[in-house]
Amino acid sequence: MSELDKINSIFDAKISAIKTKEELQNIKTEFFGKNGQITKQFKTLGSLNPEQRKEFASKLNKIKDDITNQIEQKNFEIENLEINEKLKNEKVDITLPTRAYRQGKIHPVSQVIDEISSIFSEIGFSVAEGPDVETEYNNFTALNTPEDHPARDMHDTFYLEKNKKLLLRTHTSPVQIRTMLNGKPPFKIIVPGRTYRCDSDQTHAPMFHQLEGLHIDKNITMGHLKGCLDYFVKEFFEVKNVKMRFRPSHFPFTEPSAEVDIGYKVENDKIIIGEGNKWLEVLGCGMVHPNVLKNVKVNIKQYQGFAFGMGIDRLAMLKYGINDLRAFFETDYRWLSHFGFDPLDVPTNYRGLSK
Ligand code: PHE
Repeated sequence: MSELDKINSIFDAKISAIKTKEELQNIKTEFFGKNGQITKQFKTLGSLNPEQRKEFASKLNKIKDDITNQIEQKNFEIENLEINEKLKNEKVDITLPTRAYRQGKIHPVSQVIDEISSIFSEIGFSVAEGPDVETEYNNFTALNTPEDHPARDMHDTFYLEKNKKLLLRTHTSPVQIRTMLNGKPPFKIIVPGRTYRCDSDQTHAPMFHQLEGLHIDKNITMGHLKGCLDYFVKEFFEVKNVKMRFRPSHFPFTEPSAEVDIGYKVENDKIIIGEGNKWLEVLGCGMVHPNVLKNVKVNIKQYQGFAFGMGIDRLAMLKYGINDLRAFFETDYRWLSHFGFDPLDVPTNYRGLSK
């Protein structure tokens, strides 16, 4: 076997075993490097006579081309393999749910506002809103609470001006006034929103949330109020029966007025809503005072109705077993990821509110 044939068969044996680019680079050096087998053969050309040189050079060039081609072919195969391997490992299943939305959570207060809105919308209430900064007229005077009325002190108001004309609303009731001034009866609204009082402890925060309800129409009675609240409490706490107690109370803007307690008991450190012989105050309510209706130009000979106001934060604490109100407003992500809700799990009455 000639020297060239030997080189050729050595190459053939080696190339078939090659799997990586690194090995390929080594074989390239082995044959075409400074001291490579092929390079060495080219160096012998000068010592040959013209006849031999011609024949040897043509054979050598043929082998060189052949080896070069094979190396290129191998390179191509290896690159292909690498790409396929990469595609296999980096495959993305676009049908999988994304992870991003799971990182954000809906705050229990937002969730409860959505739940309550869903419950009341089922029986024909629509959602109204008003500003956090109110006039003292809307917040107090129009609601039958004159200047010297003790209720103004009870509310621990944050006034924004020395002359007390502007304040942070102490309840959502001023939206009753705004709604009735801007429209014509009947009115059937709920008003979720932020409210402010200068007060802070485990169950009171200077900013908290209320939900107002107002239903004004012909022939609305306290019976409607009771039915409406009974429906709400059962739906909200997702229980069949709820013991409810209407306790006589006083608000300047309702007459008669009541506070509503719901029955509960504690079993294994858990609050069970609806039964038992303990009572929890959840809201204030009553029949809208004729003076309020007069202030907003509603004809009291034709129209009357009820209003109620409840603390959203307290309802959220009760329903979801949260025992410190202040945690609501601390923006602690660990707390939120524990008590928060999935953004895609929008509460509806049909799908279930909190499941
Ligand atoms: N606005 C009252 C409060 O904040 C609650 C309430 C609303 C009572 C409507 C009766 C009717 O205490």
